[in-house]
Amino acid sequence: MTLTVEPILPRFGAEISGVDISAPLDATVQAELLRAASTWGVCVFRQTNLDNDAHIAFSRIFGQLELAPIRPDKPPRFGRRELIDVGNLDDEGNIKHDPRDLMFNRGNQLWHTDASFVPTRSSYSLLLAHEVPASGGETWFADTRSAYEDLPSNMKDRIDGLQAVHSIWWSRRLAGYNISDDEIDNGGSALQPLVLPHPSGRNALYLASHIREIVGMSREDGQALVRELIEWTSQPQYLFSVDWKAGDLVLWDNLASMHRGGEYDDRRSRRDMRRTTIRDASVISDAKDAFSNVFDVVDKTKV
Ligand code: OGA
Ligand code: MN
Repeated sequence: MTLTVEPILPRFGAEISGVDISAPLDATVQAELLRAASTWGVCVFRQTNLDNDAHIAFSRIFGQLELAPIRPDKPPRFGRRELIDVGNLDDEGNIKHDPRDLMFNRGNQLWHTDASFVPTRSSYSLLLAHEVPASGGETWFADTRSAYEDLPSNMKDRIDGLQAVHSIWWSRRLAGYNISDDEIDNGGSALQPLVLPHPSGRNALYLASHIREIVGMSREDGQALVRELIEWTSQPQYLFSVDWKAGDLVLWDNLASMHRGGEYDDRRSRRDMRRTTIRDASVISDAKDAFSNVFDVVDKTKV
């Protein structure tokens, strides 16, 4: 064992040290990192010294990277489509004031998992802090495997085999965007199991504010169930938050956790956060769906 792994909660989250992740890593260390990620669900690496290229290189250990949408009017903000901008700065490095951008941040402040609204969902996300506010802007994580395991057995029976419809339009509406009923109903969505068998052998609740409905239930009943499960999973024993410093990287498993951004004064405080996202290897396919052109993926062997 070359890594130092210090658990944050007894079953969830760990701070990883003892390895310089800005340098190329040998196969043994890579295997230890993959094991730590699968076991702990969230791994926090402090003071990493990663730049954009090293962030991308490190991320490739975990699988195929998703690409941010091509915007014909604009080159990628960081020169690399693998980096998704989740901060509040524009291309010139000034704080954004467009209400739609501010709503995007509000959307990230709802409990969610990344890209569950895409049939080819994401497994890992790796978020690197470049600049952080003096206060606020922490990120919260919840342990969806332990939350599932601790459910009363009648709830486990009730949700066994249920499928959820995840829609980005639904969560955007929850976040305050003006979204039409037509976009909600027909705007592209993904069917996902509510209880997900995780590669670790444990089951997880696969929960997000993206869930529009539960198949076979009315929208209201489905929403009530999802709210109940999100409340259950956000009890203190399943939660911790990460206070960021520039250079910190957090790797989380979207199939074993849900997360949300903490509030901060996004009109006055600068926050520059960049994320890579890994496609779930178990759902990689050549089939086209409503998001194929948006959430393209790079084969790690070809870059
Ligand atoms: C994300 C996200 C929250 C935050 O990057 O996917 O939800 O605190 N971030 O920036
Ligand atoms: Mn997110």
